Amino acid sequence: METRERTFLMVKPDGVQRGLVGEVISRMENKGLKLVSMKMMQISSDLAARHYGEHKGKPFYDGLIEFITSAPVVAMIWEGDDAVEMSRALIGATDPRKAAPGTIRGDLAVFTGKNIVHGSDSLESADREIGLFFNDNEFYSYKLAQEDSLYD
Ligand code: RTP
Ligand code: MG
Repeated sequence: METRERTFLMVKPDGVQRGLVGEVISRMENKGLKLVSMKMMQISSDLAARHYGEHKGKPFYDGLIEFITSAPVVAMIWEGDDAVEMSRALIGATDPRKAAPGTIRGDLAVFTGKNIVHGSDSLESADREIGLFFNDNEFYSYKLAQEDSLYD
């Protein structure tokens, strides 16, 4: 493994309501990423504002905060080689209508405001978001049985 990274993923309220938590997890697992932490939670307005702070002032911001706090989400940390870029590729473009077939959003969603899953967009965002949603000791270090078959 060259650049093992950790990234933050969150199944949003629409993904939970539509019963797609397992589908999202399967796609990450099937790719070869390693799940190292996961919890279901309902996000507070304060946490939502900190998580989506970069979007404050944009026309969709208030609706985004209202939606993301409206019902439970599933927050996860995934680990692997280039995990940030790889998981963004698996998730697909922000607008599901433009997201490529084969991606989560391309296959399973139709509307930007209900695009199933969040994924960190850079290593810096991943570190920041993991810190917002998880304590330092809230993840597992373990070797995946299939690791030797996935990597050189
Ligand atoms: P995310 O942060 O949720 O993983 O999504 P993303 O990087 O693909 O997109 P981003 O630009 O960070 O936008 C965050 C979320 O805000 C909603 N959004 N709505 N109506 C709009 O034009 C609009 N643009 C963004 C989406 O739910 C998007 O995932
Ligand atoms: Mg984003």
